[in-house]
Amino acid sequence: MNETRDKRHLAALGSRIFSEANDLKRTPEALAEEIEFDIDTIHAAIDGRSPVETAEAIIRAMADKYPVSLADLWVEPDDTESGVKIMRDEESRATLRFFDRKDRDGDLTPYYEYRDTAMSRTAPFKPEWIQPIRLVDDADPDNPDVAYNHGHLMHQCTFFIGEVNFYWRIAGQGYCTEMNTGDSNYISPFVPHSFAGRNPDRPGLILAVTYGGDVRRALGQFGLIGPNSADELAGNPTNSIGAFRARLDRYLAAESLNRQDLADRLLAGGMDRTRIDMLTGGNEVPTADETVALAKALHIRAEDLMVTPLEDEGPVTVRYAGDTPERLYPKVNNPAYRMRELARTRRQPGLKGFDLSVLSGVDTTEGQFRHSLHQYVYNYGGVPVSVLWNEGENENADIINPGDSAYIRPMVSHSFSVAPDQDEGRLVIVRIPGTLSDAVIDEFSTFAVEGRSRVAGETKQWF
Ligand SMILES: [Fe+2]
Repeated sequence: MNETRDKRHLAALGSRIFSEANDLKRTPEALAEEIEFDIDTIHAAIDGRSPVETAEAIIRAMADKYPVSLADLWVEPDDTESGVKIMRDEESRATLRFFDRKDRDGDLTPYYEYRDTAMSRTAPFKPEWIQPIRLVDDADPDNPDVAYNHGHLMHQCTFFIGEVNFYWRIAGQGYCTEMNTGDSNYISPFVPHSFAGRNPDRPGLILAVTYGGDVRRALGQFGLIGPNSADELAGNPTNSIGAFRARLDRYLAAESLNRQDLADRLLAGGMDRTRIDMLTGGNEVPTADETVALAKALHIRAEDLMVTPLEDEGPVTVRYAGDTPERLYPKVNNPAYRMRELARTRRQPGLKGFDLSVLSGVDTTEGQFRHSLHQYVYNYGGVPVSVLWNEGENENADIINPGDSAYIRPMVSHSFSVAPDQDEGRLVIVRIPGTLSDAVIDEFSTFAVEGRSRVAGETKQWF
C-alpha cells in the first residue's frame, strides 16, 4: 500500500460514513452520541484523518446500531497503481495447483494445472491460466476420460492457446469442438463444461476469464426472495412473448394495477380494443407505437418494455479465429494494433474480448484506449509489451512481459507498444461490465448537475 492510496481509502471511508449518516438523518454529533464514540473521533474519521481501524470500528458500530448493511458501508481499498495492477509470471507460477478428476477407469488423476493471473478486489473477475493435463485422441463429447464440471455462477470467456478441446453440455446433450490458438468462447452461468488437450508434445492452455455479473451482486436479495419468486419474476424469457409478459407483469404488480385498469387507460389513449386485449393478455409483443402507449400508461420508459428475443443466441458461443477478420486500429493508414474480436454474445452486451497484436516499428502515439469496462490483459506472445497509462494527471509506465497479466480500471486511458527492433506483441484483452452499467449511468445522468460530484465522495450535509 502506498501513502496516497491509503489516504484516498481513508477519505473514501470517511465519505461513506458521512453519506450513510446523512441518509439516516443523523448529524455527526447525533451519530457520535448514538454509537457512543467521541465527537472528535467521528469528525477525524469523516475527514479521513483517523487510522483505518477506527473507521472500521465506526462502520461496525453503525451496522450494529442501524438497519444498514455492513457491505453497503464498507469501501474496498484500491489495490491498483493509479488504476492498473500487474501480476508477474513468477507470481502466477507460485499459485500453481492441480485438480484431479476421474478418468475412464474411475481413477482420480491430474486433470488441470491452475494458476491465478491478475485480479483486483475492485473488479469482479477471477481470470485463471489453465493447462489441461488429460489428453484425448478424439472429439467425442461422451469420451469417458472427459470430466465435466457442474457449471458455475460466473460468466466465462475463454481464450485458447494451442490444441485444446472444448466440451459443454446443454439439457444433458454433450458437445465438443476442437479449438486452436486465437479461438474463444462464451459460457453462460451453470452450463457444465470441460477442456482436454490433444497434443502430448505441445500441451495447449486456456485463459479462463470468469466474472460475476449483476446477479452475482444481487445474490443477497435472491436468497431473501427465494428460488420460486425469482423464477416467477423471470417468467419464460426463451421467446419474446414470454419475456414481454414477464416485464408487463412486473410493472402491473408494481402499480397494483390489474389488466382491466390498464386496458381502460389504453382505451382512453385511443388504442384499438382488439389490440388492447392481445397486449394486456401478454399474448403478443407490442409494436414500437404500442410500446410507447403502454409505457405512457404505466409511467415508465418505452425501453423498460422492450425485449430482445434471444432464441437464436444459445448459452454457449464459440468463435474461431479463422472465421474472424482482423481490423487495424486506430487508423487503417496509421495503425498501432491489429484487433480480432473474441466471442460475442447479446446475452452479455458488455463482454468485449480481443486478440490484440501490438505492431512493431509503428510511428504513432494515437493508440489510446479508454472505455467504461473493466479490462483484463495477458501477454501470450514472446516479446515484452510496454503499457502507458494515465489516471487524471498521473502518467505511468510499466512492462507486461510474456506470461504477465494485468488489470486496468474503467476510464483509465492506456496504450501498448513494443520496442522498434522487436516482433509484434500478442495480448489477450477481455473487457467485462461492472457496476457502471447503462442503468447506473442513466440514473446518474438524471441527478442535479451541481450535485453530481458528490457521488464520488459525499462532503455535504443535505438536511
Ligand atoms: Fe469454467
